[in-house]
Amino acid sequence: MNVKQRIEELHRLLHEHSHRYYVLDDPSISDGEYDTLFRELLELEKEHPELVTADSPTARVGGPPLDKFSQVEHRVPMLSLENAFNNDDLFDFETKLMRFLNTATPLTYVAEPKLDGLAVELVYEQGILVQGSTRGDGKTGEDISAQLRTVQAIPLRLTGTSPQLLEVRGEVFMAQKGFQRLNEVQLEQGKQPFANPRNAAAGSLRQLDPTITASRPLDFFAYGLSAPEETGCTRHYDVLQYLGELGLPINDLTKQCETIADVIIAFQELGDLRHELPYEIDGMVVKVDTLAIQERLGNKARAPRWAIACKFPATQATTTLINVEFQVGRTGAVTPVAILEPVTVGGVTVSRATLHNQDEIERKGLHYGDTVLIQRAGDVIPEIVKPIEEQRDSSAQPVLIPVVCPVCDHPLEKPAGEAVTRCNNPHCPAQRLRTLIHFTSKAGLDIEGLGKKCIEQLFAEGIVKDIPDIFTLDRNQLSELDGWGKKSADNVIEAVKGRKNPPLGRLLAALGIRFIGEVTAALLEQHYPTFDKLIGASREDLLEVDGIGEQVANSIVEYFGDERVVAMVTQLRESGVEPKVLLQNAETQPLSDQIVLFTGSLSQLSRSEAKKLVKENGGQIATSVTKKTTIVVAGDKAGSKLKKAMEMKKTVMSETEFLHLINKA
Ligand code: IVH
Repeated sequence: MNVKQRIEELHRLLHEHSHRYYVLDDPSISDGEYDTLFRELLELEKEHPELVTADSPTARVGGPPLDKFSQVEHRVPMLSLENAFNNDDLFDFETKLMRFLNTATPLTYVAEPKLDGLAVELVYEQGILVQGSTRGDGKTGEDISAQLRTVQAIPLRLTGTSPQLLEVRGEVFMAQKGFQRLNEVQLEQGKQPFANPRNAAAGSLRQLDPTITASRPLDFFAYGLSAPEETGCTRHYDVLQYLGELGLPINDLTKQCETIADVIIAFQELGDLRHELPYEIDGMVVKVDTLAIQERLGNKARAPRWAIACKFPATQATTTLINVEFQVGRTGAVTPVAILEPVTVGGVTVSRATLHNQDEIERKGLHYGDTVLIQRAGDVIPEIVKPIEEQRDSSAQPVLIPVVCPVCDHPLEKPAGEAVTRCNNPHCPAQRLRTLIHFTSKAGLDIEGLGKKCIEQLFAEGIVKDIPDIFTLDRNQLSELDGWGKKSADNVIEAVKGRKNPPLGRLLAALGIRFIGEVTAALLEQHYPTFDKLIGASREDLLEVDGIGEQVANSIVEYFGDERVVAMVTQLRESGVEPKVLLQNAETQPLSDQIVLFTGSLSQLSRSEAKKLVKENGGQIATSVTKKTTIVVAGDKAGSKLKKAMEMKKTVMSETEFLHLINKA
């Protein structure tokens, strides 16, 4: 099999497995096996950049950052929906439709959950995703193709025989779990958390840097086409099934309704189910099923006549703020949590609510004992909207963030300009426990059998105090613990053993170093083939890596410069923990060990093409002339950087010479 064929085979395999995983929820290979195939493809594409195609699964990691979003005209306008709020509105909807059609025959409908996210259009040509855009004003949206390609649920290539052109419409959204994790990370990094999953989804898609979008847990459901009649289907419901057959995720709570009464029942049922769903919905969309009737009904100015959105009533309630607990996270961030008099909101009993941070408490002006209005926007964790000040007791005390850590009594700090209050005591037991939980969790080394509960138990028993203790667990000691047996002890010990040689990026993400999430960790892994190279990297070294900024560089240097970390790394190695070394074919590449700087304006390449070429040929990019820079490519009007390069006796070459060097002239 030649390289091209192998790449095609890898495309096919990766598309199939990602479809099974993200759309069918039925994986047939492990994450590790998937990673291996993915890495093989990355390597082959690196060696053969001419074989990279738009639908390559590697597009999922996100391409180079954009300068701005360009505009996209929708061939068929993307409309909005009118709202219904109760059963009467739904009966009215049908009455008006029948009047408009001048018929006495009631209609049939499709009822779909109304996802609370962002409407997007995906354009497939010959089955390949060629463009993705936002709705914008309905006529013109923004081109977010690179961002949408990173959303795993969106197929880059359709399955089966696909038409020439297909314009799919659907909703990009963020599920609850991912939203909560993202907000935890935001808080840990001193950034404002997102108010709700909708904002988080919108904010993630509107990133000019698609690698940021790639790091966000976005999801997608298709709900229609710009021109459904072109499919040959006669009903909207069949269109949805057809989209499903093409590999697009469609919502399985969609119902065909014979009458408007069935629609009302479906609305009731969906409302009951709403809070058990893993994602937020804010209502149900009702669509006339027969496409020919949709066509006859047509559109009003901004919304089709044939569809309506039934909105759920807001779920709010009042209760009493009994207390505020201050929880200490992995990085020492202190998060206030409101303890409430239990109350039922939207069918769920609520006794806790997030308060985000000190600024939020001050903005709301909360006092202990306040009667508060709380709201559950489908959130698992509800929030306090406001205190009812008229009902406040005159002796009520304001809620204040403590001055010392509630766990270890270390003085707390709140750096100017940051939203987060932090305990900076590295020995704080709360932080140690959180670090351990993160280390073994899915976001870390993903050690089976060592979930949150287990780690809490092992920490409380004093068996695991620090990360290295995980690798020296004793079978007999474990099996005697409450709730454990020989079998579970063996399983955990086996699972730990299986994680002793993780990819470097994985280990870095697991250690929970500030500002080092999965994406940054993967970037570091690419540039530092061994653990020692990374540990020894200076701030300047790190800053040479494209995509690594001051914050990350400082954080790494500080982390590995800490003698406790040095001791921990030694201990880990003594227990046989050693990250896998990435397959290196750097020696054979024209720019291996070269750090290249471009200055002045280039005439044959764009800056991003030039940077891409450097990376593809095994080199690294510099943004200023330093000791490390080895080659300076000078274009027209090169100025101070060129001068400095000459002074420092660097190899200076023209754009054409550079292209010759990498055999691209
Ligand atoms: S149909 C012409 N179906 O709701 C029909 N929209 O208020 C237009 N939405 O912008 C949309 N789930 O973002 C449709 N199953 C669904 C939907 C849905 C969510 C959103 C969509 C649209 C907004 C309209």
